[in-house]
Amino acid sequence: DEARAAQESAPELVVVANRLPVDLEKLPDGSTRWKRSPGGLVTALEPVLRKNHGAWVGWPGVPDVDVDPIVEDGLALYPVALSSRDVTEYYEGFSNGTLWPLYHDVVVKPIFDRTWWNTYVEVNRRFAEETAAIAAENATVWVQDYQLQLVPKMLRMLRPDLTIGFFQHIPFPPIEIFMQLPWRTEIIEGLLGADLVGFHLPGGAQNFVYLANRLAGHPVSRGQIGVRSKFGEVQVGFRTVRAGAFPISIASGELDELSKSRSVRQRAKQIRQELGNPRRIMLGVDRLDYTKGINIRMTAIQELLADGRLDPKENIFVQLATPSRERVEHYMHMRDEIERQVGRINGDFGEVGHPVVHYLHRPIPRNELVAFFVAADVMLVTPVRDGMNLVAKEYVACRSDLGGALLLSEFTGAATELRQAYLVNPHDIDGVKDSLLAALDQAPEEGRKRMRALRRQVLTHDVNRWARAFLNALAETPHAGETGASL
Ligand code: ADP
Ligand code: F6P
Repeated sequence: DEARAAQESAPELVVVANRLPVDLEKLPDGSTRWKRSPGGLVTALEPVLRKNHGAWVGWPGVPDVDVDPIVEDGLALYPVALSSRDVTEYYEGFSNGTLWPLYHDVVVKPIFDRTWWNTYVEVNRRFAEETAAIAAENATVWVQDYQLQLVPKMLRMLRPDLTIGFFQHIPFPPIEIFMQLPWRTEIIEGLLGADLVGFHLPGGAQNFVYLANRLAGHPVSRGQIGVRSKFGEVQVGFRTVRAGAFPISIASGELDELSKSRSVRQRAKQIRQELGNPRRIMLGVDRLDYTKGINIRMTAIQELLADGRLDPKENIFVQLATPSRERVEHYMHMRDEIERQVGRINGDFGEVGHPVVHYLHRPIPRNELVAFFVAADVMLVTPVRDGMNLVAKEYVACRSDLGGALLLSEFTGAATELRQAYLVNPHDIDGVKDSLLAALDQAPEEGRKRMRALRRQVLTHDVNRWARAFLNALAETPHAGETGASL
């Protein structure tokens, strides 16, 4: 059948990520179905891989299931099974209780647990072994993100013929913070198994190169690293490992088209009506994560209402939040805090039938989400730290009408590219409040000018360009043979 055929022709381009692009869902009647999995990584990579008939190795999103490889719309998916214990210790534990907070500026305190580390090593080995078993001779393997930082080295030892790339989707932290990690040298050595290590920003790549010298003792280049150019170099024996900056993006053209469709336009109008035709709609769209600063925008709105600077009859805030990592303690606290804030604002400023904050804790279908982007007058993106933040780019791609305004935290990767947004320091609540009012009250011509410039950036730098830049740089690395994939 189709799945077997896909397995027989071994893939030349393999993406390895913690999650498959689809999650297996167990229904109450015991049956299962696949649904799209959350987050920016899947949003970015899925279109690239589909276009290139690649294969994807990843976890199906639920513990203790052993599913066979499948082909989904021409994309071969190779599931890696995780036990409940693996999920607790490798995914919720080391990945999201240790690395996630550590790499996001220790916004909350990382937990250093030796058992979690051991399971992280074990699970990384499993991903490396599964990949080694399916990749074609001389194939290109592209390993993704902080959950799999040991895979490049493990894979190189199993399959020296492969060309291996690694991309870090989250920030790579300042050196002083990274040095807290008890397993810092192992992580750096794991990454150095790749031929090319990619980051969103030059600063992350620079930190990595510095640490390759300091922790692993390798000779390194000293020059400034550029964006998609001027790579850093680490000499690992006879191999040269390169490090570069490749800011990720979205399928902006497709989103632009979708946002112009009649059905989306109509739905956007309908949303405004359903909200009671407020003068202005503010919007937040996030995974429910403590790095996203949902509490910060909520505080700003609450204070503006209390100060009498924002009229609750004319201004509505919609927060769409996808559930995320719900068994990790800090996520539970954050959810409680946000839901308390929603209740408090509506209690103090809402009327029967007219809440000020509309809060949905569930994933929203794509077309519906786009209609919300089209309807929103101000998009609030206020993370305390974010590797890139694709939501900011999605909003811009959806505003071909040149309407709307983007309020954007300086602490996102996106802020380095989206300079015409209303940039804010999320730690400065007064600054956030003032910028939010400025965005709400912007003159139409000023808004159009800003949005035009933002759109130029996002439409000319789409996810395809990102993947092409990375894969072409990977194909040019000294190790890569003639078969190195390029787009
Ligand atoms: P992260 O990778 O940390 O989740 P990004 O902003 O880079 O953050 O990417 C998030 C992706 O998830 C975007 O494509 C966004 O549209 C999608 N998303 C976020 N919140 C929701 C939601 N409530 N419903 C549906 N999709 C969402
Ligand atoms: O982009 C960061 C990231 O952690 C991805 O690796 C991940 O797929 C996404 O966010 C969503 O998180 P999770 O897979 O933990 O639900």
